[in-house]
Formats: sequence, structure tokens, C-alpha cells
Amino acid sequence: MDEFHKHSSPFLLVVYLLLIRSLFSTATDTITTSARIRDGETLVSSNGVFELGFFNLTNSPNRYVGIWYSNITVPTYVWVANRESPLTDRNGALTVTAPGVLAILNRTNGTVWSSAFTEATTQSPNPIARLLDSGNLIVKDAGDDDNFLWQSFDYPCDTLLAGIRLGWNYVTGVETYISSWKSDGDPSKGEYSSHVDPTGYPQMVLKKGSAFQYRIGPWNGLRWSGAPDTSNDPTYSVSLQMTRDEVRYTEGRVGDSVLSISRLNPNGEGVRSTWNDRTNSWTTYTNVPADNCDSYGLCGPHGSCNAGTSPSCGCLDRFVARDPESWGRADWSDGCVRRIALSCGTDKFLKYSAIKLPDARNTTYNVERRSLAECQLDCARDCSCVAYAQLNISGAGSGCLFYHGDLIDIRVMASAGQDLYIRMAAAEPGDVSSTNRNGGNRGRKRTIVIASATSVAVMVFMCLLFVYVYGRRRKNDTIVGLFSATHVKEAELPFFSLPTILKATDNFSNKNKLGEGGFGPGLLEDGQEIAVKRLSKTSRQGVNELRNEVMLIAKLQHRNLVRTLGFCAQGEEHMLIYEYMPNHSLDLMLFDQEKSRLLDWQKRFDIINGIAKGLLYLHQDSRLRIIHRDLKASNILLDADMIPKISDFGLARSFGGNQTEAQTRRVVGTYGYMSPEYAIDGLFSVKSDVFSFGVLVLEIVSGNRNRGFLLKDHNLNLLGHAWRLYMEDSSRKLLDPCLDEAFNWGQVERAIHVGLLCVQNSPDDRPSMSSVVFMLGNEVALPQAKQPGFFTERDISIDHSSSSSNPTVTHNEITITWTQGR
Ligand SMILES: *[C@@H]1O[C@H](CO)[C@@H](O)[C@H](O)[C@H]1NC(C)=O
Ligand SMILES: *[C@@H]1O[C@H](CO)[C@@H](O)[C@H](O)[C@H]1NC(C)=O
Ligand SMILES: *[C@@H]1O[C@H](CO)[C@@H](O)[C@H](O)[C@H]1NC(C)=O
Ligand SMILES: *[C@@H]1O[C@H](CO)[C@@H](O)[C@H](O)[C@H]1NC(C)=O
Ligand SMILES: *[C@@H]1O[C@H](CO)[C@@H](O)[C@H](O)[C@H]1NC(C)=O
Ligand SMILES: *[C@@H]1O[C@H](CO)[C@@H](O)[C@H](O)[C@H]1NC(C)=O
Repeated sequence: MDEFHKHSSPFLLVVYLLLIRSLFSTATDTITTSARIRDGETLVSSNGVFELGFFNLTNSPNRYVGIWYSNITVPTYVWVANRESPLTDRNGALTVTAPGVLAILNRTNGTVWSSAFTEATTQSPNPIARLLDSGNLIVKDAGDDDNFLWQSFDYPCDTLLAGIRLGWNYVTGVETYISSWKSDGDPSKGEYSSHVDPTGYPQMVLKKGSAFQYRIGPWNGLRWSGAPDTSNDPTYSVSLQMTRDEVRYTEGRVGDSVLSISRLNPNGEGVRSTWNDRTNSWTTYTNVPADNCDSYGLCGPHGSCNAGTSPSCGCLDRFVARDPESWGRADWSDGCVRRIALSCGTDKFLKYSAIKLPDARNTTYNVERRSLAECQLDCARDCSCVAYAQLNISGAGSGCLFYHGDLIDIRVMASAGQDLYIRMAAAEPGDVSSTNRNGGNRGRKRTIVIASATSVAVMVFMCLLFVYVYGRRRKNDTIVGLFSATHVKEAELPFFSLPTILKATDNFSNKNKLGEGGFGPGLLEDGQEIAVKRLSKTSRQGVNELRNEVMLIAKLQHRNLVRTLGFCAQGEEHMLIYEYMPNHSLDLMLFDQEKSRLLDWQKRFDIINGIAKGLLYLHQDSRLRIIHRDLKASNILLDADMIPKISDFGLARSFGGNQTEAQTRRVVGTYGYMSPEYAIDGLFSVKSDVFSFGVLVLEIVSGNRNRGFLLKDHNLNLLGHAWRLYMEDSSRKLLDPCLDEAFNWGQVERAIHVGLLCVQNSPDDRPSMSSVVFMLGNEVALPQAKQPGFFTERDISIDHSSSSSNPTVTHNEITITWTQGR
């Protein structure tokens, strides 16, 4: 017995202490009227994710009460109660009192902040406050689980958590909206705010003060018109509810396995990120505004902004600049006017596709109408109706949105754009779109081409303008693009003379050759190592256009893009000068029996993630929204630390012809990496890059080229092989056999699964790069992959012989180009 007591007493003491600790310190999520939370104490939600307590942001004595993520190392405050009225010492306390008021008291029990208490709500004799698992701090009656007297989700600060309902209560006139902090060290209300604006038809807008800064667009039944399509992201949901009494928007990740926030930064940037356990940091996967086309109304009324052209602003097809002179000065605010005036009774409607719908503040709508034909009839009858669009594009589509007044803030969307039908004078050439008559969706491909491009006439006009402006400026050789008046002062791109380059590369000596058109390392006189890319002579661009183009590209800076140092153009020679990458291109490593051993799994996974981030930047975060169109292993360069850098990312843009078209006559790409819709129909989109990315992922995992991959027992290519293993639930067999150490099989399978999602046959099924980055970085459930496109070698040859195209292929790995005969 004595023995037992000797050992048991300390043991019992520890248990007792633990019990006390759990009762009185960290483990509670509730405040009652009898227990206040003092500075230094915290509430923790029952799932352990959120924590509420006191904190300071800088060395100033200001103390705030707020909610943050409990167990991550980067302090992330999702809500601040007393953002405008900080405590000035550490003697504050948070209390809840009857009839249901939450208050922050200072040292002398003076109220520094209190929750709003509306008389209309039922009063509680015994209120409690609780921090819920969602991060919502609520006040309710202890005995009533259904009704909240108050909740922090009604008063968000700069962070939108899943479950917060943005919008308006029309009965009380109270709006729930997001507002930025003043600065990183000051959570008080800053300049920027983000609202559901219900004027006209609800649209999401970002304001600076009271002015629109950026408009995501009106709700279309699936998403905001200008928002990326997240329908392929299985864990992300967005929704809008509209009733007579309220309009409410929610967004967020379903399920709480991943920490995810949307926040409005003090500089007006909206950022969506998820927590990445592996890197112990927040990964941003969307940020807005993404480019200058996101500036509200940049191109004025009836202007259309296209980030893929320079300058970005053009008039809508069949409109002309109101004041060509101001357009010449890159001031587009006057916008454009119709060439032929309207005359109500006889007008017709023309369809403009793949755009973000214009500002919806001056709209009316009709939810009952089922077809576009009915919408057109209604709009035609009302002389003030200048355009209409489908109100709800979900399912078969329904309802009408009618525009009145000027059409402002239209931008061309790289994907997920919408159709707008604009009233035009009968004398204006061009058919009334077939869609108007039958309400169907016939001839989709054709209309994309016609309508997503701004008019050829305007393009020609703009080109002439360019030549004119450059002609005038050549004397002092400054480069001032029409791209945007605000970007004019940015750095110039150095011009290298041909002799400099010849000297650096030893007259392009063969010993320095780096694959197709590439030379390096070259050595500049200042000792910098460079790589030189000779561009094909087929380019019909003038030097100034090239220079402008290259300048835009050079401004894109990302850890996973190769840096452009300058360019050289003389006579027929056009060259780009890059930083030199000591580990050359990925294909030289990956497909080499010896060197591939240097790429262990962790390096390969890091390379996959790096390429994904670089591509996401090109698609979405850069100002230019570039579609690469020729992503392949030989275009991925590796620096000394094996960090992947995408190269040639501006070339498609410079040399691929008219980028405003969603369909091109000149197909540029590489066999084995081209998506079916691009190779066959010349249709490209961000989703064709996603396809090429998927091919790359499978190549990196397996160490095999897609093209030329052959196994004795089937005639599938690498995609087909990977798909077959995936269906047999033996994806692991795809992994490069030269990797024999122990590694994270979950990661390998995830990479293969994501790769297969990217190469699915239908572009609509493929995830966007933001989803890809998310799915690679987080342990979320992935959707079942469908059959890939081009999964046998035979597929390709059949497709080519049946099309009227005339491909010229000189080498497996070389970029091929041909002209579509359509
Ligand atoms: C935080 O802790 C909870 C409970 O222990 C756990 O379920 C959750 O995964 C943790 N989250 C992070 C980001 O570590
Ligand atoms: C909060 O204040 C304390 C003491 O003044 C200081 O040591 C700490 O660094 C401050 N926290 C932050 C995030 O600045
Ligand atoms: C503040 O209120 C608490 C609780 O009612 C009380 O114990 C304390 O003495 C008060 N402090 C002052 C300075 O009045
Ligand atoms: C506490 O708050 C009250 C009311 O806001 C104020 O009058 C008082 O000066 C504050 N006391 C201290 C010590 O800050
Ligand atoms: C849009 O249409 C879908 C399918 O018909 C319907 O479920 C949804 O409620 C509609 N949304 C709105 C906002 O009208
Ligand atoms: C809305 O359009 C009508 C019809 O053209 C116009 O008279 C009115 O000024 C516009 N209102 C606003 C707020 O733009």
C-alpha cells in the first residue's frame, strides 16, 4: 500500500492540475455572465481551430480583442471587435451581461466597446457568448440554441470566412460588408471595402471610399459574372440568395479540413488563400484586381478591355472612339459611341460574347421569362433598353437582365465569359444573331470568334495609332506604350546590340547551343551569364512592336518564370536575352537515365508545384493574362537550386497572331502536349495550358515522355497508361522506377490524380490553375478523373488525317505550326 501511495500521489496531483487547467483556462469556448475573460485568457472553439482573446499588433500599447487561428504559427486575425477603440493597457476584460450585450471593459470598468443590441430581438435573462467552430462569436440565451441575439458574422472586418453572409437586410436597412484594415498594424477601418451592391441587379464590387474601384460583376445564377469559374473545384461553393427581405452572398470551402480565408488587404487587394501545412504558410490562389482591365470603367462607356492586347482598351465591335484624340493620349475615359444612331422601332440586337457583363446599377430584370427570344421582345419594346443578357445562366438559362444608359466596364474574359445582346441600328451591317431567333445556342464556336474580338477596323486603327505614336517618339528613343498611362514610368528594357550578343555567344558557336534556337551560357562584358533565344524569322512584327511586347513580358516577375533581361532586334534577327539557368531545361534532366536520379521525389514534387504557381501567375495574377500555348518539359528551365522557371511564356502572345481571338488559324504547339480541342479545332483557352500542364505532371512523375511512350502490352501513350493504372487503382506503378527511396505515397498519388484531372478530354472538366495549386497543396478529396484526351498514339494520327489541316513536323520535340484551313 505504501508503495502505491508513494507513486500515486504525484500522479493524482498531475491529473488534478490538468483537470483544473482544462476547466479554467484554455479549453472553454463560452463566457457566462459570471465569468469574464481577462487580458491573457482566451476562448478556444470546440474544434480547436479558432481562438478569441487580446492581442497587440505593434509595440504600441494598443490592445485589441479578436479572433485568430489557434494553432498556426503565422498570426492571422479573422475578426477584431474593438477595431476603432483599442484598449490602452493590459487590464481589459470581455463580459456578457443581460439582456445579451457583449462588452469590452477597461481598468475602471468603463465600456470601451459593446455589441449592438437591437430592441427587436428577444431579451435574455441569462445570456452566454460562445466561439463557434466556424469562427463566429455569438451571444444567445443559455437555454435557446436556435436564436442568436448577436453574432460577429454580421459585423465582419477584412476577412470573409465561410458562413458570413454579405449583403443587405432590406427590412432593417443594415448592410453586412467587408472593410480593409487601415494598415497591417492598424485594424481600424481603411479605405477599401467590398460590397454586394443591390442597385439594379446585385453585383459584387470593391470600393475605394465611395467610388467603384473594381467590379466583379452581376450575379448570373452560378457566380459573379467576372469571377473565375469555381464549379470544378469540388470543395468551393458560392451562392446568392435573394428574397423580398434580403440579398445574401456566401462563399467558402465546404468542410473544415482546410483553413481557407478571403481577405481584403489594406492596399485594396482581395486575396483568397488556404493554409499549407507543408510550407507552414498561407498560399494565395486568387487575387484581385489582377490586371489593369480590372480598374473600374478603364475604357469608358462602350469600351472593352482586353488584357491580352496592348493597349488593353478598344471600342466594342461597331462602336468608335468618341474622341479619337484623347484615345491617342491613352485616355479612354470618354469611351465610344455607336457609328449609326439608334431609332428605336427598327433596331436589332447583336451578340457580344466571352465578356464580363457591364455595370448593372442601371438595369431592370424579369425572372419569369424563360428564353432569350422573350428577353429580346421585351427589350425591343422599351426604347430605353440598350442591351439584354440572360439573367440566370444556370441549367438551360432563364430570366432577363435589361440594361439602360451607357454600358460601362466590359472586359474580355479568358474563360467563363458571358453573352450580351446590344441594341444596334438596323443599318449596321451584321446579322442578328441566330441565338435571338430560336433562343438556342447554335454556332457557338463561330460566334466566339466574331464577338470576342474587338472589331478589325478598330484594331487596325489602334495599330496605326501605335505606329504614329512610336514614329513620333523614336527620336529620343523612349519607350512609352499606350498600354496604360499609369504604367508609363516603369523601367525600360535594355536593348542589346547584335555585336554584343555575337561576342557574348562566340558567334553562336555550336558548343554553346542549348536546344532549339537557344544559346548559352553567353558571357556579357560585365560578367553576367546570359542565355539567348533566337526567334523564328516568320515573325512579322516590327521592332517597336516587338520591343513593346517584350517590355510587357519583362515586367512579369515571378519566382517560377525565367527573367527576361533584354532583347535584340536587327534586320532579320530577333532575339530575347534571358538569365542563364545552370541546370538547363527539365527534359535534359528528366529523360536522361543518369541525371534523372538527381531528381528525387521531393524535388519533383517541388518542381510540379513551382510550375503550377508560375502558370497560375500567367493565367490569372499577372497583368496580362497570358496563355502559354507551348508548355513542355524543354520550356521549363531549372536554376542552381532546381527551382523551375517557365520560359517562352510571352512568345505565343508575340508571335501567335491575334490573341483576342479564342480561336486561331495558326496552331502553335507541340505534339504530345496539345489538348484535343486545340490541336483539332485550334480552340485555345487557359484550359489548353492546363492540359499541357497535366501531361508535364505525368512526365515528371514517371520520367517518361508522353510522346513516343510505348509498352508492349498496349498501344496507349503515357496518358492512357496513367489512366489505366489509375482505374486499376495502382497509380503507384507509374512512378519512375529509378526513385527507390522511401517517400510520401499520398503525395505521389495526389500528383498523378491532379495530372489526370488536367488532361481530361473536355476542357470544361479540367480544373483551373488556381484549383490545381490548391489541390496539390492540400489534402482535400479530389473528384474522380474522367477519360483523358488523346490517350492513344493512334488517336492523333486519325485526327490529323481527317482534318483539313496541313501539319509540318520536323522533329518530335520541335514546336510545330500549321495553318488551319477553315
Ligand atoms: C488545429 O488543431 C485541431 C485540433 O487539434 C486539429 O484538428 C487541426 O487540424 C489543427 N489545425 C492545424 C492547421 O494544425
Ligand atoms: C506586443 O507588445 C509587446 C510588448 O510591448 C511586444 O513585445 C510584442 O512584440 C508586440 N507584438 C507585436 C505583434 O508587435
Ligand atoms: C469592475 O467590475 C468587477 C466585477 O463586477 C469588480 O470585481 C471590480 O472591482 C470592478 N473594478 C472597478 C475598478 O470598479
Ligand atoms: C475607461 O473607459 C471609460 C469610458 O469609455 C473612460 O471614461 C475612462 O477614462 C476609461 N478609463 C481608463 C483608465 O482608460
Ligand atoms: C437559377 O436557375 C437555377 C436552375 O434553374 C435555380 O436553381 C436557381 O435558383 C436560379 N438562381 C437564381 C438566382 O434565380
Ligand atoms: C439609367 O438609364 C437611363 C436611360 O438611359 C438614364 O436616363 C439614366 O440617367 C441612367 N441612370 C444612371 C444612374 O445612370
